[in-house]
Amino acid sequence: MNIMITGGAGFIGSHTCVAFLRHGHSVVIYDNFCNSDREVLNRIQQITGVRPAIVEGDIRDEGALTAAFKQHACDAVIHFAGLKSVAESVASPAMYYDNNVVGTLKLLGAMQQAGVRKLVFSSSATVYGEPQSLPLREDHPRHPSSPYGRTKMVIEDMLVDFMMSASPLKVAILRYFNPVGADESGLIGEDPKGPPNNLMPFISQVAVGLRPLLNVFGNDYPTPDGTCIRDYVHVTDLAAGHLRALEALDKADQVTVNLGTGTGSSVLELVHAFEQASGQKIATEIAPRRDGDVAQYIASSALARTELNWQATRSLDDMCRDSWLWQSQNPNGYRD
Ligand code: NAD
Ligand code: UFG
Repeated sequence: MNIMITGGAGFIGSHTCVAFLRHGHSVVIYDNFCNSDREVLNRIQQITGVRPAIVEGDIRDEGALTAAFKQHACDAVIHFAGLKSVAESVASPAMYYDNNVVGTLKLLGAMQQAGVRKLVFSSSATVYGEPQSLPLREDHPRHPSSPYGRTKMVIEDMLVDFMMSASPLKVAILRYFNPVGADESGLIGEDPKGPPNNLMPFISQVAVGLRPLLNVFGNDYPTPDGTCIRDYVHVTDLAAGHLRALEALDKADQVTVNLGTGTGSSVLELVHAFEQASGQKIATEIAPRRDGDVAQYIASSALARTELNWQATRSLDDMCRDSWLWQSQNPNGYRD
């Protein structure tokens, strides 16, 4: 198949390109590089032996998308392109609705015009909001607590409308939990611009000496060690989930599933696992709670097993080892 991957130059998108190329598919990356680096194309080629086709463009530019679909006949779209910072979305909601919601609407318009009928969409566990029960099942009510989360919820609902339209789309909605790790080659990985908001890249930057210490945001949560618990999932497992999701659309018209491991780890557990994997000491300091954090977020992974025949196989140690390999080989990310 020939797959268009919007946001394919980013963290999860680049690993998904590798997964599809390794399985003999062709990919066309559509990206405006607002949060990624062109060097990733060389790295994908180094890993797979294939240089992905690239169209530099914005998903809000329907004309450019239409031209891209004309140039590259595509069988399906995997849609990663979007902005993802919770804090930034609180400060600038218009930017988030424009980029994520309007961008997706334009993409859907261009897909309809080109007759492309299959879409895999990157949603987020953040659509659930404060958990009423754990593990979080897909039928848990959605109450996102940030504009970012609400853009994901609005897009999910919009996709359901397009599924039932006169020219129906087949859609897989994937709700990621906490993607971390890197390709086992250490050639591609997460490369945040500016200080990382997320835990794993922050720990990696402390380990490589770019930052003096990790602030642990709160140790008085109702968890065994007092720090927040999250469901970390290896990005290579997550990438494989996209292959399975597209396969599932051969039989089903619609799937909505969590991609997580079903197991939670606390902040301190992740720090200790990283120390073991890297041999580096991570200096930590307990800091006040971060606004908006919830104590625990753990996926129910049952539906992904039955609907996609997908299950994460990589452990927390694998995630830490591969994050460290990427960070230690590329201390300044793709700018090295
Ligand atoms: P990322 O920022 O690394 O990748 C996103 C890519 O999209 C980047 O290459 C960026 O340049 C591109 N992009 C952004 N806006 C664009 C636009 N208007 N037009 C064209 N390209 C554009 O992020 P990621 O971590 O790889 O996340 C991918 C997707 O998964 C996002 O939609 C994100 O919301 C979602 N998601 C991520 C996480 C996470 O923790 N990383 C969790 C849940 C969901
Ligand atoms: N944390 C620290 N110190 C840091 C960074 C994070 O203690 O420097 C803690 C946080 O307080 C939280 C945990 O580490 O308890 C995980 O935080 P992340 O920012 O890595 O992840 P979140 O669960 O807050 O959010 C991530 C993405 C969201 C996505 C969500 C889905 O950032 O976009 O996962 O579960 F929606």
